[in-house]
Amino acid sequence: MKIALASDHAGYELKKGIISYLSKNGIDHGDFGCGPEERVDYVDYAEKAIEQVLEKDYDRAILICGTGLGMAIVANKHRTIRATPCVDEYTAEVSRRHNDSNCLTLGGRVIPLDEALSVVRIWLETEFEGGRHQNRLDKILEIEEKNFKSR
Ligand code: RB5
Repeated sequence: MKIALASDHAGYELKKGIISYLSKNGIDHGDFGCGPEERVDYVDYAEKAIEQVLEKDYDRAILICGTGLGMAIVANKHRTIRATPCVDEYTAEVSRRHNDSNCLTLGGRVIPLDEALSVVRIWLETEFEGGRHQNRLDKILEIEEKNFKSR
């Protein structure tokens, strides 16, 4: 699985810790900014990573800002992206089992690195359950068809 990462300045340090975890565990990934010492708008960096998933160059995205909220708002403006701000192991697990989350968002100002790494591990390892949850995702796709003009 290939993971596209991006952060703003408030998520940069946590992103570094997650990149190091992915590297140590041999998980393929790419970093789409921002770099150190930059003050940026999270909107622009969410776009850079999500574009990689929409183009199918990457399978999923991990986006990190101060709270994980702004990144999720931007990511969820895109068809087929199901971005979930996860704050603990439970939300990480259910975001995959029930929501088939393909974009994890985290808050660099709200979750310490060790907890964030557990969230990432569970989010990467947990499978989607399908069944009644697929029916619900199909309804989300219908809403996207109705409201989103392009990809
Ligand atoms: C930046 O100060 C902060 O607003 C941003 O990182 C994020 O938390 C927005 O949702």
